[in-house]
Amino acid sequence: MNDLLSSVARYYSDKIQRFGNEPRGVDWNGHEGQVLRFAQLCKVLDPDAAFSVTDVGCGYGSLLDFLGTHFERFDYVGVDISDAMIHAATQLHADKTHARFQLGTRPSHPTDFAVASGIFNVKLDSDSGAWRSYIESTLENMHEFTTRGFAFNCLTGYSDQDKMRADLHYADPCELFDICKRKYSRNVALLHDYGLYEFTILVRK
Ligand SMILES: C[S@@+](CC[C@H](N)C(=O)[O-])C[C@H]1O[C@@H](n2cnc3c(N)ncnc32)[C@H](O)[C@@H]1O
Repeated sequence: MNDLLSSVARYYSDKIQRFGNEPRGVDWNGHEGQVLRFAQLCKVLDPDAAFSVTDVGCGYGSLLDFLGTHFERFDYVGVDISDAMIHAATQLHADKTHARFQLGTRPSHPTDFAVASGIFNVKLDSDSGAWRSYIESTLENMHEFTTRGFAFNCLTGYSDQDKMRADLHYADPCELFDICKRKYSRNVALLHDYGLYEFTILVRK
């Protein structure tokens, strides 16, 4: 793992060790926002057919419970760069036979879909240019191991200036929409209408 991600992994390992399996343990303010994000990302999934999905940056696997209440037939793999997260998720979901968890940034096998909630936000003291390159290479990665589509969210550059923090990355939604449209698919949706200081992009292949 490169230096940039090693620091991020340490940051999140500390969160889960301090707060446990709850939204604050993955650095979210609360359950409502966490689930609202899942609802946006999961619009890329297909409710009418069985599918496989990778949850990139799965944390303690909260998305798995959301999927279980909204979809019937799916296989789930959660990947995370924090070994403390993978440990927590594996223990919490030990009874679920259609789910597994792996340390790292990509699954061992391709899946139909990938979703990533919150992995592009905390940049710590990384340079903004390096962080933008990291986002682009992560999207390339998600494109490579998925066959049907992927979705991700980012904090928005349209946030109020006085609320912005130096350790967080605020992305330009138009720039990322353009990259996805040009590189990955004609069918790209930008969702910037769900009341949080962020946006979600869905790429349907
Ligand atoms: C804000 S938390 C969100 C966790 C989960 N997606 C949720 O919404 O409950 C971000 C998680 O992504 C992980 N992460 C960050 N960058 C990653 C990357 N490039 N690949 C895999 N995991 C990553 C962190 O370790 C952390 O557990």
